[in-house]
Amino acid sequence: MKAVLVNEFGPIAHARYTDVDDPLPGDDDILIEVHASEANYPDLLVMEGKYQIKPPLPFSPGKAAAGTVTAVGQKVEAFAVGSRVAAQVEYGAYAQKLAVPYRSAFLLPKTMPFDVAAALGLVYQTSYFALIHRASFKPGDSVLVLGASGGVGSAAVQLAKAMGASVVIGGVLGEENKQVASAVGCDHVFDLAAENLHDGLREAVYGVTGGKGCDIVIDPVGGQANAAALRALAWCGRMVIIGFASGDIPTIKANYLLVKNIAVSGLQWSDYRERDAESVKVAQEQIYRLWEAGKLKPHISKKMPLSNFEEALEDLRHSRVQGKVILEP
Ligand SMILES: NC(=O)c1ccc[n+]([C@@H]2O[C@H](COP(=O)([O-])OP(=O)(O)OC[C@H]3O[C@@H](n4cnc5c(N)ncnc54)[C@H](OP(=O)(O)O)[C@@H]3O)[C@@H](O)[C@H]2O)c1
Repeated sequence: MKAVLVNEFGPIAHARYTDVDDPLPGDDDILIEVHASEANYPDLLVMEGKYQIKPPLPFSPGKAAAGTVTAVGQKVEAFAVGSRVAAQVEYGAYAQKLAVPYRSAFLLPKTMPFDVAAALGLVYQTSYFALIHRASFKPGDSVLVLGASGGVGSAAVQLAKAMGASVVIGGVLGEENKQVASAVGCDHVFDLAAENLHDGLREAVYGVTGGKGCDIVIDPVGGQANAAALRALAWCGRMVIIGFASGDIPTIKANYLLVKNIAVSGLQWSDYRERDAESVKVAQEQIYRLWEAGKLKPHISKKMPLSNFEEALEDLRHSRVQGKVILEP
């Protein structure tokens, strides 16, 4: 089969789209013929050796794929040859075939296209866990999502709306991203490039939450936006740290936490995948139900052949993508 192969950590230009041996499914595994893979910002970090988990070399990157089951291990009962599935993995999805433990795979709703299934992978799971498991989201909460035009951000906006948020405010950079954030469902959008970010974001959030502030901040961005968002939280507000797309890891001012009874938590979604597969399954079923109800619509802005992985990842690195890029092997 063809796959993207990383032989050494470093520039992604060193990775090759090449022939490799087909994976062999074990007794607990299913073999998937991949139709669509999700390109994610963390794939860049993994390939460059900058991610917290370094796969053994050589490896194929890629954290989510959708396709058709072509073989099942002896102990697998939940899937059959021909099942349409999506799978979440630590790495390996940038390939024409993928062998995964059956517990990492989910049956797709009958009408769900493979590109949509791949796009409903990592970023929706991450946003779901951020909202439900880390921020204790409940209907009626107001939510500020930073990076609302990006992969994690747009998923968080849609999930918060779909699950009954009273108001969702997007924080983005620039006019084009404002339009995307509105299109994915934000009720209000704030430009994080504003000169008075420190006070301006709080004023804007107070303005649309009856002077209360927002109950939840979802932050995949970090940097100055994080500090401004912390000030926009309501009494007993919850902030979830997901990533640092700005390249700047912020320092949290503890006095804000004390003064307003604020809780700040981190999320490493892959830990849930390894430690709590049942919750991941419940989350995926919920995500599929919301999609079937027409409440989630992943923003797929680009689709390209898997052989163009480098272009896709450079587009992600240089902010030339809103929403998701899907790779088709
Ligand atoms: N913790 C976890 O389990 C987990 C899971 C998935 C992802 N992540 C992390 O989450 C982060 C985002 O991932 P993603 O897939 O959403 O990436 P993405 O699609 O590239 O989106 C990043 C967003 O952040 C915005 N942004 C970048 N720099 C900014 C700045 N200085 N100020 C304000 N906004 C800025 C981008 O806007 P522009 O497009 O205009 O630059 C874009 O909207 C990454 O760091 C990733 O590693 C963590």
